[in-house]
Amino acid sequence: MKTQLLIIGSGVAGLTLAVKHAEAFPEKQITIVTKGNEDESNTKYAQGGVAVVLDEKTDSFQKHIQDTLIAGDGLCDIDVVNMVITEGPKRLKELMAWGAQFDLDQTGNLDLGKEGGHSQFRVVHHKDITGYEIERALLARVHQLKNISLLPHHFAIDLITEHQLKQVSENISCYGAYVLNQKTGKVLTLQSNCTVLAAGGIGKVYGHTTNPAIATGDGIAMAYRAKARIKDMEFVQFHPTALYTNQEGSAFLISEAVRGFGAYLRTKDGTRFMPNYDKRAELASRDIVSQSIDTELKKSGDPCVFLDCTHLDLKSFRDHFPNIYKTCLEHHIDISKDWIPVVPASHYLCGGIVVDSHGKTSINNLFACGECTRTGLHGANRLASNSLLEALVYAHNIYKYLCKHEVLDIQKFLPDWNDEGTSMPKEHVLIKHNLKELQALMRDYVGIVRSNDRLNKAITHLDMIYNEVEELYKTSKISTTLCELRNMVNVAHLIIGQSLNRKENKGGYFNVDNT
Ligand code: FAD
Ligand code: SIN
Repeated sequence: MKTQLLIIGSGVAGLTLAVKHAEAFPEKQITIVTKGNEDESNTKYAQGGVAVVLDEKTDSFQKHIQDTLIAGDGLCDIDVVNMVITEGPKRLKELMAWGAQFDLDQTGNLDLGKEGGHSQFRVVHHKDITGYEIERALLARVHQLKNISLLPHHFAIDLITEHQLKQVSENISCYGAYVLNQKTGKVLTLQSNCTVLAAGGIGKVYGHTTNPAIATGDGIAMAYRAKARIKDMEFVQFHPTALYTNQEGSAFLISEAVRGFGAYLRTKDGTRFMPNYDKRAELASRDIVSQSIDTELKKSGDPCVFLDCTHLDLKSFRDHFPNIYKTCLEHHIDISKDWIPVVPASHYLCGGIVVDSHGKTSINNLFACGECTRTGLHGANRLASNSLLEALVYAHNIYKYLCKHEVLDIQKFLPDWNDEGTSMPKEHVLIKHNLKELQALMRDYVGIVRSNDRLNKAITHLDMIYNEVEELYKTSKISTTLCELRNMVNVAHLIIGQSLNRKENKGGYFNVDNT
């Protein structure tokens, strides 16, 4: 099967690029493959919103740039920060033109929220379900465009490069991807002149995460196996306030916008501790709040801290955060009387596949955008609500690049997927067991606070898991769960290896041996 543009992933990054490209080139065929239902993505769960400067009287690009640089703790690429932040308003307007709706204030202007690390109110939102609204609007537009084929339940296994063609080349090119139809079990050879990874985050590598189960780092792992440059993997961002339920797996997020609305963080005995750590208190950047909570929990031995909303206006809270209010009630937490138990959870990866300002990776004909990339915007710690913004801007930049540069039609013979010598796995328990082990080692040895000893132990342990998983992969018929596990092992390797290489603590990276 051949397509002119292959996009892997149907979150904000992949869908935005597809819409722009399809509108500009109605004669070109675009294929989006996505591994679950068409809307399942990190995007769908985004709460707080999109950070943009809309009113130069009360805010300025310079202030947003400054806030981003402070959060990134000296490791942002300043040119990238300038570019993304000044492009923001145009990209937001485009999204609104496609039908995304955002809340208005009493004067009819866009209502602006505030989150950690922001010096101004500048977060555009749709209640507390901003991502759901963005995903809805983009999918509606995609379905209107005849030249986009959106294939849900299609899992990209690996990129096709010279390696699969049994050629040796220093100058690697991408020719498409092998894609598993998850309903039929058939593997398609999808040839494309241009392939874009928009496959999202890695949250599930840590059992306890705000991300949905699809966030298994597939895009990064595929790019890594294809020998693309990957950077800044040590900067895993832990969100300070995931709802504490005493269960592993995906955790419900209590948006940072709730702290922007005035909520306080307290220990069990009622102490409001954040002012002891940072003069911005609850609105310090995410790395600082998560590390402070971690310190408090280690001191007290408690399993969680609490978010106190009891002093806030209830009606206004319910208007702004209806989903959070409802979900808390479902957990028997009445936010007007009860404090919300919260704990940090893995949330976002600041690093990933290295791309230039056009979204080009180090492999020819391979682009990437969204959370799977390392653009230089976030440095050592992403500023809240800069991720949706980054995805919108980089999807646009790839589109612009493809408008100006004709990608040559590739005439290559690509071999079909070869599963000779493999059989149905007899014991799924091996996959389950290895996944649990992987997540436990990432939680215990590669969490918010790291040490060289724990990281070295993690590598030794991971090598054993790696060997078992590779053996399974070589001998088993392909399955989504096995491929995801293999990808998560690759991602864990990158996180641990790049953590060990970092000799200075910055932003979201804290190693006790570097102090
Ligand atoms: P995603 O939206 O995750 O999309 C990735 C897509 O790739 C999915 O469709 C997935 O199924 C597909 N995929 C993955 N692997 C494969 C494969 N092997 N084959 C085929 N398809 C594949 N950011 C903000 O800026 N503001 C916020 O308010 C905000 N709130 C958040 C709240 C939560 C709970 C979470 C989890 C994140 C939040 N973020 C927020 C972060 C932001 O939502 C994400 O970084 C962003 O949406 C990522 O978009 P994306 O398109 O890169 O990836
Ligand atoms: C949140 O709403 O707290 C998440 C915002 C983000 O991840 O940018």
